Amino acid sequence: MNNETILVTGGAGYIGSHAVLALKCAGYDVVVLDNLVYGHRELVELLEVKLIVGDTSDRTLLDNLFANHNISAVMHFAAYAYVGESVTDPSKYYRNNVIGTLTLLDAMMAASIKKFVFSSTCATYGIPETVPIPENHPQNPINPYGASKLMVERMLSDFDTAYDFKSVCFRYFNAAGADPNGLLGEDHNPETHLIPLVLQTALGKRESVSIFGTDYDTSDGTCIRDYIHVTDLANAHVLGLEYLLQGKDSTVFNLGNGNGFSVQEVIETAKEVTGKEIKVQKCDRRPGDPPILVGSSDKARTILGWQPQYCDLKDILSHAWEWHQNRHA
Ligand SMILES: NC(=O)c1ccc[n+]([C@@H]2O[C@H](COP(=O)([O-])OP(=O)(O)OC[C@H]3O[C@@H](n4cnc5c(N)ncnc54)[C@H](O)[C@@H]3O)[C@@H](O)[C@H]2O)c1
Repeated sequence: MNNETILVTGGAGYIGSHAVLALKCAGYDVVVLDNLVYGHRELVELLEVKLIVGDTSDRTLLDNLFANHNISAVMHFAAYAYVGESVTDPSKYYRNNVIGTLTLLDAMMAASIKKFVFSSTCATYGIPETVPIPENHPQNPINPYGASKLMVERMLSDFDTAYDFKSVCFRYFNAAGADPNGLLGEDHNPETHLIPLVLQTALGKRESVSIFGTDYDTSDGTCIRDYIHVTDLANAHVLGLEYLLQGKDSTVFNLGNGNGFSVQEVIETAKEVTGKEIKVQKCDRRPGDPPILVGSSDKARTILGWQPQYCDLKDILSHAWEWHQNRHA
C-alpha cells in the first residue's frame, strides 16, 4: 500500500473504471467523481471505492471534495465523447469538456493539487499526414469533440507555464476489450464503437453491423484503426501518475497498439472468437473518416516503460466477448 489518494473523474465509465481497478491493484486509494450521465454505479460498487455522484462543473462540490479528501492527483476521464453529437450540438461539448475541465483545474489550484492525468484523443490530430502518427504530428481536429480535447491540452500547457501545474496527456486511439478477469467491460449507451457493435450483433441484439466504406485504398477496402486494450490503457495511466508523482515534467503520450486492424478483419476475427454468424451492411463512407488511423506509442514505451500485454486482436475480442455474454445473460 502507498498513502496516495487519487481522484478519478468519470470512474464509473468504461476506461475510468478500468483505471480505478489498475490503481487499486497498484495500492492507491481512489475516490470516484461521476455524474452517472453515462456511467454505471454498479461498476464502482464492484470496485469497492468511494463514489461521489456529481459534476465537474460544480465548483462548490469540488471545493468540499478537496477539503474532505487528501487527494494527491487527479485522473480526468469525465467528458462527452460522441463525435457525431459534437457536430450537431457543439455547445454541449465545449461546456462539459472544456468549461467543466477548467472548473476542475481551478478547484485543484485552489486546493494546491497540481498533478493531472488527462484523457485526450487521437481525434486532436484530425486527418493524418503520416502514419503511424507521432506525438509531434500537427493537431488539426475536424470536429468539436477533438477540438474540445485540444483546448484542454492547450490549457494544461499554459497552466504549467504560469502555475507550475504538471500534467500527462494521453492521446488514445480506439480503446477496446475488457478486464481479462471479467469484472469490468464496455457498456456505452448509445453504442458507437465497432467492437461492441459487432459483438452485440453476434449476440442477436442487433440485426447487422454497418461497414462505412468498402472502397478505401487499404488491403480489403475497409478502414484501418488502432485498437488498444483497455487494461493496457489503464496500466499506462498508473505509470503516467507515477511519472508525475516522481516530480517529472508535463508531457504527452500516444497510447495505441501500433498495429492497425481493418473493419473487415475485426468482423472476421469476431466470427472466429464467437463462433457466430455476423451479418454486415455495406454503407457509404462517412465524411471525415480517414482510411488509416494508427499511432506510434514508442514514446510511452521508452519514457514510461509501458509494455502493452494484449496487442493481439483475438485477445481483445475474447475478453470483450466474455464480458458481453455475461452482461447480456
Ligand atoms: N473510448 C475510446 O475509445 C476513447 C478514445 C479516446 C479518448 N477517450 C476519452 O476517454 C475518456 C473516457 O471515455 P469512455 O469511453 O470511458 O467514456 P464513458 O462515457 O464510458 O465514460 C465517461 C464518464 O464520465 C462521466 N461524465 C461525463 N461528464 C461528466 C461530468 N461533467 N462530471 C462528472 N462525470 C462526467 C460519464 O457519466 C461517464 O461515466 C473520455 O474523456 C473520452 O473522451 C475515449
